[in-house]
Amino acid sequence: MSFLDVRGLRVAIDSKTILDGLDISVPDGQIHALMGPNGHGKSTLAAALMGHPRYSVLSGTATLDGEDLFRLPVNERARKGLFLAFQYPVEIPGVTVAKFLKRAADLSLRPPESATAFLKELRSNMEFLGIETAFANRYLNDGFSGGEKKRMEILQLLTLKPSFGLFDETDSGLDVDALKIVAAGIERMRGKGFAALLITHYRRLLDLVSPDKVHIMEKGRIAASGGFDLVETLEREGYEGFRRVKEAVHA
Ligand SMILES: Nc1ncnc2c1ncn2[C@@H]1O[C@H](COP(=O)(O)OP(=O)(O)OP(=O)(O)O)[C@@H](O)[C@H]1O
Ligand SMILES: [Mg+2]
Repeated sequence: MSFLDVRGLRVAIDSKTILDGLDISVPDGQIHALMGPNGHGKSTLAAALMGHPRYSVLSGTATLDGEDLFRLPVNERARKGLFLAFQYPVEIPGVTVAKFLKRAADLSLRPPESATAFLKELRSNMEFLGIETAFANRYLNDGFSGGEKKRMEILQLLTLKPSFGLFDETDSGLDVDALKIVAAGIERMRGKGFAALLITHYRRLLDLVSPDKVHIMEKGRIAASGGFDLVETLEREGYEGFRRVKEAVHA
């Protein structure tokens, strides 16, 4: 099971309220998309759920399978199966990709049976994602290109097999082939026991990883939720036009 339920969430950063009464729920087995204009709080939601210390939860709740996330320290949230693919993946000089993934996998929900099993799976995942084996011995994200860093996030996903994935613009900066590979990586996780929220600005990822539901965030709350037609309206009309369409529907 992996059911994320967020109710009335208000979150501030440096005493500025960013999320202001946000409700969203993603049932087990589903992949939802979260779109919205720049600066309206999408990354803030991901960071607050993951437990970034700069973000203060003012009120509201967030549960994963009924468990209160805000009561858990960050490492416990990860151990419960919450995974964040960063909008800007961090570089960790001094720690190789293989070491980092082994350590993280050992602490994950489903640790590898042995070092040999881990390496075998790592090699197979790297092959699947078109990552050259030499990357395993490079320092994590150190000097990686933008697209290589995003692929690395998906390698972490396949290694850790979390129950809930938050993907913050994992599609940005990817060439067309890399986008397909990343989409295939996410699709590989789809099914019972996994759910995800894909934060994105464009439909190109959503054409490959079809969302069960689409949410539009504005000013720190969900302004609309619906099917793929929301993505099409946005693409056609932009956010201005989207607001006009919404108002017309509600008039
Ligand atoms: N330290 C800070 N002080 C004041 N405001 C901040 C601080 N850090 C972030 N913010 C603001 O919080 C708002 C929400 O940022 P967030 O990164 O969540 O937006 P986003 O929806 O992910 O945008 P994008 O689509 O550009 O990634 C922005 O207006 C940002 O400037
Ligand atoms: Mg963002």
